[in-house]
Amino acid sequence: MTIRPLVILPDARLRLASEPVGPVTDEIRTLAADMLETMYDAPGVGLAAIQIGVPRRVVTIDTSKDENDRHPQVFLNPEIVWASEEKRIYDEGCLSIPEFYGEVERPDRVRVRFRDLQGEEREIEADGLLATCIQHEIDHLDGVLFIDHLSKLKRDRVVKKFAKAAKRGDV
Ligand code: NI
Repeated sequence: MTIRPLVILPDARLRLASEPVGPVTDEIRTLAADMLETMYDAPGVGLAAIQIGVPRRVVTIDTSKDENDRHPQVFLNPEIVWASEEKRIYDEGCLSIPEFYGEVERPDRVRVRFRDLQGEEREIEADGLLATCIQHEIDHLDGVLFIDHLSKLKRDRVVKKFAKAAKRGDV
């Protein structure tokens, strides 16, 4: 497993729509393993493949936040098939937008259909942090960032800040 460099705002790759995964090949298994390694190293609770520059619909998540009790989850081609009416606000962050946080309102519970690394089609119902996280990561697969859910003023401010840092060569 390899820790891969993270793609950071304002890198245009973050705006790409990622391609679906076909059969589960060694390439996909390696990608998922590298994503988990990169996510744990960061550390973060979720990662989409495009955040290491690979435009495929692969998401890794571990919301356990305890490095002695890890629960890695890999989602291939995840899609939300149901979302609750009730919403929940969470102070979100993103490994591609380091050290910036903002409150985002999303459905409190979602049902997600995906394939696992064995190629089996599965469905889970997620709530709490997992529900927030999976919606955040699926957004990445469509080139959407959590800052897109904030006010235009806040979004413009953070984009400008990261564009300046990139120009200076800080990131
Ligand atoms: Ni993110």
